[in-house]
Amino acid sequence: MQTEPIQAKCKQFCRDFFTQLNAVHIDHLERKWIAISIIIITSLVGIIVIDAFFHGVNPPSKVETIDSASLHLSKEFAEENLGVQTDEKGNVVVRMVAGRYSFFPKHIDVPAETPITFRWVSMDVLHGVHIPMTNMSTMIVPGYVAEITTTFPKPGEYPLLCNEYCGMGHNHMWSNISVIEKEHWTSKQNTPVPAAKGGSVNE
Ligand code: CUA
Repeated sequence: MQTEPIQAKCKQFCRDFFTQLNAVHIDHLERKWIAISIIIITSLVGIIVIDAFFHGVNPPSKVETIDSASLHLSKEFAEENLGVQTDEKGNVVVRMVAGRYSFFPKHIDVPAETPITFRWVSMDVLHGVHIPMTNMSTMIVPGYVAEITTTFPKPGEYPLLCNEYCGMGHNHMWSNISVIEKEHWTSKQNTPVPAAKGGSVNE
């Protein structure tokens, strides 16, 4: 019963709106620029929609918690389990701890052209990690495990920098990583650690 008057109101509103819009004088050049901006905005929104729904590009939503104060006592991030390991399926997993003002371990060797899963935790404040000239970059939020999987196409020496201001020593907070040719890289084959899910195992 209520729908008809609402529909009529909407139609009336739209009619009024477009009549008023037509009555406004917009310069020819201005119209062009309005059209160009609308096209740019529509294309950008289109790209985001296509990426989200067809290419599966989404913001990270996996939430895995860990207690920063006791992570060194947990299985996964205990000192002897840090660094590069190969799990039972052959996946290369790197576990690193960020703390003022370094990344631990200080140096790691990883193979090129191989998917590598990095698992980062912070033992104190907010840090970030970035490997220049690669797409490896993430924030390391205390209380959460930051996981990122990437592949390094080219062998070489890469710095590993903190990119979130974390205190007076922030600009000295770095570590390095050697990307070694796949054939020459041998994993350390430590005892695999079961990846903790949902934080419960870590606590
Ligand atoms: Cu850690 Cu800046």
